[in-house]
Amino acid sequence: MKILAVTAILGTAFIVSCTPKTPAVSGPKTITAEYLAQGKVIFDNSCKKCHDLPNPKDHSAQDWVGIMNSMAPKAKLNDTQHQMVYDYIVSVK
Ligand code: HEC
Repeated sequence: MKILAVTAILGTAFIVSCTPKTPAVSGPKTITAEYLAQGKVIFDNSCKKCHDLPNPKDHSAQDWVGIMNSMAPKAKLNDTQHQMVYDYIVSVK
């Protein structure tokens, strides 16, 4: 059930990233509102299991790199989810 939910989230993200109407943004990757919304869903669901949901504003973007490197394995995020959650967190600042 959990695996299905994660697959659904990633599937949706994949569809969103392939939607032609997504405006082209310069830079290494395209970050859309939908992409960040998916990151927020993963963050909301994965990061409050062991402690209160952290406040993205409590740490710098640089600090979040290290925090996510230690927390993503704890939350059992794959690389894509790790990146999505990180991008969501730094977008909140
Ligand atoms: C399996 C349990 C677990 C999960 C899931 C988890 N954490 Fe944590 N988290 C901890 C523990 C334990 C600590 C305190 C000890 C430590 O820093 O390793 C912590 C500490 C933190 C801190 C404080 C670090 C600091 O330096 O002040 C932040 C921020 C944080 N977690 C963010 C997250 C985020 C974001 C996620 C989701 C990706 C997450 N955590 C998921 C267990 C978890």
